Amino acid sequence: MPGPKNANIFGTKLGFYLAAIGSAFGLGNLWRFPYVVAENGGGAFVLLYLFLVFLIGMPFLIAELTLGKISRNSLSPALSKLVGERYQVREIRERREELPGWLKWAVCHLGTLAQGITLVVLAYYAVISGWVLHFLMQLLVSLFDPGRFDPNNTLQVLLQNGWLQVLLTSVHLVTVAVIVAKDLELGLEKWVGYCMPLFVVLLLVLAAQSLRLETANEALRFLFYPNFSKLSLASLGEALGHVFFTLSVGFGCMVTFGSYLREKAYLPVVGFRVSMLDSAISIWAGVMIFPLVMYGGSIFSGPELLFQTVPRLVKELPNGTWFGVGFFLCLYLASLGASIGLFETVVANWREVRRVPRSRGALWAAIFCFVIAVVPALSSSVLSSVRVGSRGLLGFCDAALINWLLPISALLITQVVAWLLRKELIVAEFVDPDRPGSEKLFRHWIFILKYVAGPITVLALVLQVISLF
Ligand code: ALA
Repeated sequence: MPGPKNANIFGTKLGFYLAAIGSAFGLGNLWRFPYVVAENGGGAFVLLYLFLVFLIGMPFLIAELTLGKISRNSLSPALSKLVGERYQVREIRERREELPGWLKWAVCHLGTLAQGITLVVLAYYAVISGWVLHFLMQLLVSLFDPGRFDPNNTLQVLLQNGWLQVLLTSVHLVTVAVIVAKDLELGLEKWVGYCMPLFVVLLLVLAAQSLRLETANEALRFLFYPNFSKLSLASLGEALGHVFFTLSVGFGCMVTFGSYLREKAYLPVVGFRVSMLDSAISIWAGVMIFPLVMYGGSIFSGPELLFQTVPRLVKELPNGTWFGVGFFLCLYLASLGASIGLFETVVANWREVRRVPRSRGALWAAIFCFVIAVVPALSSSVLSSVRVGSRGLLGFCDAALINWLLPISALLITQVVAWLLRKELIVAEFVDPDRPGSEKLFRHWIFILKYVAGPITVLALVLQVISLF
């Protein structure tokens, strides 16, 4: 007779992939990728991005999964276990007394840094998800009342109405919290399991529509023809930050997912598949979006890019309203999957460290995010006069978190795995006698973590500092 199911392990292998990819794939691929690519000149940036996904992003993702699977914990408790504090149940490091006190302190607090970043990202993510919901609702209404949707004004009305943004943000946060408050299989796995396949089908249909536009050739040239002179000093940092953001690395998200993996999962393959699918969907999203953006004749501009261009096409394309509904539904599903993954990470850390029940953790996470989200939600209205350099508060949150703090957090987490985690434990995850070449793979992976990723990440940060001047 099968034993009782463990509520903290993914029910199926497919469930894990859908949840991990659903969490990796989000607004980052559909909303952020196009505007960052546009700001950095197109094809050359796409190449740089893909190169960094496989050189750095994938090894980092595998490192996070490894820490989670070995410790069977989320980031904060896993790190505490690693330095031998509080969680003594299953040691994951020997000779811990050799670590100096400051290092133990720093390692333990790395989890707090990652959770802080996750909460702030979730908060401004919820604001953008609220924009998506607004467009989706407007378009759904206009299916019955065609004159109602005004493509030129919908964004302006929304941006000027900060309290409407606060309301939409809270709708999104409540939805996510209710889903995460359920058990793993009933919540995250089930919902992302519904959303992801629907999302992929929608994306394929919409991309096929986009490729029929007369701007498709020009868009594909922009996206795939590398013109390296268009890259700036800050491009390396922007590409790297975006790689971490889109793969959900640096938040501790993949540590949590790793802790839910079944014992027999082979991490390098899992990491490769998630990175591969995430990049493929990102590129596919670019193929869908750039013909639209060019068709709309838009001047590329920051976070509003999508919301300025796509709605205008609704009036111009045949069956445009249906197209718009499909597009924003797709965008909302992507954002829901990613929000659920990030939210689950925060709640899992609190459950394991503070022993709070899942539902109470979800409630507190929603309240925290809501309080933080009020600032970006009001950034285009009540707080529009507050600017940091050329950016408003929302643009500043996005750049500061993704281009600066996330690479730092991702690098620190992986350095802890590479230098402090017991080697035999990692080897046991990597080296499989039935898989030829697995030992060599392990040596390459650890070399990249220890000696390649650090200098490149630091270089990316330094170049960004230089570009500020
Ligand atoms: N990985 C998520 C995204 O790309 C956060 O949106």
